[in-house]
Amino acid sequence: MIDWMSLTPLDPGSTRFGHSGEHPGFADRDYVRRRDEIAARAEGHAVGDPSPTVTYTEDEHATWRTVHRALRQPQDRFACREILRARADAPVPADGVPQHEDVSDRLERLTGFRFTLAGGIVPNKRFLGSMADGRFHAVQYVRHPAMPLYTPEPDVLHDVFGHGIHLSDPFFADLYRTVGRAASRVDSADALDLISRVYWFTLEYGVALEDGEPRAYGAALLSSYGELGRLSRAQIREFDLAEMARLPYQVNGYQPVLFSVDSMDRLADTLHGFLDDFDETTRDRRGLPALADRGFMGRPADA
Ligand SMILES: [Fe+2]
Repeated sequence: MIDWMSLTPLDPGSTRFGHSGEHPGFADRDYVRRRDEIAARAEGHAVGDPSPTVTYTEDEHATWRTVHRALRQPQDRFACREILRARADAPVPADGVPQHEDVSDRLERLTGFRFTLAGGIVPNKRFLGSMADGRFHAVQYVRHPAMPLYTPEPDVLHDVFGHGIHLSDPFFADLYRTVGRAASRVDSADALDLISRVYWFTLEYGVALEDGEPRAYGAALLSSYGELGRLSRAQIREFDLAEMARLPYQVNGYQPVLFSVDSMDRLADTLHGFLDDFDETTRDRRGLPALADRGFMGRPADA
């Protein structure tokens, strides 16, 4: 997953569901132990190595089934056409949590992508750069069963219901590779931050207009029952790179501002136009707000 903490949160501790520290995903010791046990297997994992098999519990499978059932209708109603087409081929089983390797085998046949194991936060360079080689960092742990329709951090459900759908489709897979190639060419935290923001506001939280109505294509929206349900009430702005570069955004709770494109072709043109020649000078060349001007609050990426 993306290095969420290197981005500038509006208020990282507080969500509309209460303070994130009080969420059972953080406060339930047994749950945290299980989550950490699964996450620990990512330690020392080399990009491209197979993910270990996880023996999921019946509760974890039940959480998956609940979310699978709950997301179907909102996706039908609020996801854009291209996403619904991609979903038809995506490795999103109804009966329980799939193994990474099974998801990857299917994705590889469709687009050449495979999941590679993450234990949580992944530095931007590694997370974004790996996409150039068709590798997407994904976690294996499952959200807390008490709140199946909301997770304060990305989990395997987010990764499969969101990115798994994208990476089943050559159009979206090309956009991930485009992000990855740009990230491979730069090393500064500033340049990587700029790419991660554009990634965030498009492939995680992007919307497209269909007959004037917002429809979700971003992975974070597709995998969130609550975000899909409030799409018509979200503050939606026209696609604007300078705004994306400048805007603080919400890493917990609902994303207050979303950016729209008027078609998927326009999205591809815009991302290719911005990223194909991306380098360390792009921010200056394009006159985008500098890191210092935004009161950057991130921390150095950890491993
Ligand atoms: Fe994600």
